[in-house]
Amino acid sequence: MTFPRPRPSVPGEAFDPLSVLSLDELRRRTSVKWRAYPEDVLPLWVAELDVPLAEPVARALTEAVALGDTGYPAGTGYAEALAAFAAARWGWRPAVEHTALVPDVMLGITEVLKLVTGPGDAVVVNPPVYPPFHAFVRHLGRRIVEAPLGADLRLDHDVLEEAFVRATEGGRPAAYLLCSPHNPTGTVHTRAELERVAESAEAHGVRVVADEIHAPLVLPGAEHVPYLSVRGAERGFALLSASKAWNLAGLKAALAVAGPEAAGDLARMPEEVGHGASHLGAIAHTAALRYGGEWLDALLVGLDRNRLLLGELVDRRLPGVRHRAPQGTYLAWLDCRGLGLGDDPAAVFLERGRVALGSGPDFGTGGAGHARLNLGTSPEVLTEAVRRMAGAL
Ligand SMILES: Cc1ncc(COP(=O)(O)O)c(C=O)c1O
Repeated sequence: MTFPRPRPSVPGEAFDPLSVLSLDELRRRTSVKWRAYPEDVLPLWVAELDVPLAEPVARALTEAVALGDTGYPAGTGYAEALAAFAAARWGWRPAVEHTALVPDVMLGITEVLKLVTGPGDAVVVNPPVYPPFHAFVRHLGRRIVEAPLGADLRLDHDVLEEAFVRATEGGRPAAYLLCSPHNPTGTVHTRAELERVAESAEAHGVRVVADEIHAPLVLPGAEHVPYLSVRGAERGFALLSASKAWNLAGLKAALAVAGPEAAGDLARMPEEVGHGASHLGAIAHTAALRYGGEWLDALLVGLDRNRLLLGELVDRRLPGVRHRAPQGTYLAWLDCRGLGLGDDPAAVFLERGRVALGSGPDFGTGGAGHARLNLGTSPEVLTEAVRRMAGAL
């Protein structure tokens, strides 16, 4: 099947998925980004993108609906599409036979953690980090051991090693939930960093679970290194999904991949876990990975432009804010401690500026005084958001 090239919204201009939908159209959406706050609030908080569906995805879904193809998922099409995408983009081909369909990334993480840890065992995380890492792990009855990122917002190997020691005290099993790329800082881990992680995890008997949901969203200047492609990662797991890059969170499906020496563990995952993924989800994610590359490239151009624009806007209008452009993801981590707005600057921007950002303290240690801004929007909305933030000061 062939699909038309993405069309520019203005004839003659390059296609920009971030500039297609008007604010009025976006406000008609019923997803949480647009419904959590009153209409006068500009929402740049939760990780949803202000983009239309990629055409190949819309086409695949439309065909499925026309056929009434709305039963249960079957086969390995999603895993095969991921394998081809990962081989083409990252030079790593995950083994289809070591890949399992899961409902979404967070539930996939939960199920993998159940395979390698028991109640009360420790899971190491790197705050500030995506808040559900704390919440889901606690809900599962596992103990959190924090290994905060360094001041440069990168992994601190000494801190990580010390956390591995604490996590495995008394010879207990433990896991490490790695966020790669890292949400909220947009840090993209290098091969050398990941090899050090693998070496240290192996030395302490810690099982690594890499959340690579943001992997397709690595921006120019950095390169995604799949955790399972590094030396020493054979006993690790990775969770991948098309949901962030193609904005498919409402179409539930994700994949858990096991390293060669973790395949036996993954095989113990109960069959019913896969029943939580939706067939339409698997269809949409498969189409995104198979045919959505051109659309993704257009998105990455827009995100690269937006991260530069945000840097300029912050320098000009929010001089007290320190900001490092993300290497990947569409999230920007703003250090607002210089503004004197207290632990939760997002609360002030919301109340006085009517702009919704992610609250830093929700991200755990290191989050106080920070806010997370979602760059996955048009340059106009981004500019207006910063204007409102400056007006709140
Ligand atoms: C790092 C990370 N993992 C997982 C998720 C959620 O993924 P899912 O909806 O597939 O559970 C997000 C959503 O933003 C995320 O940023």
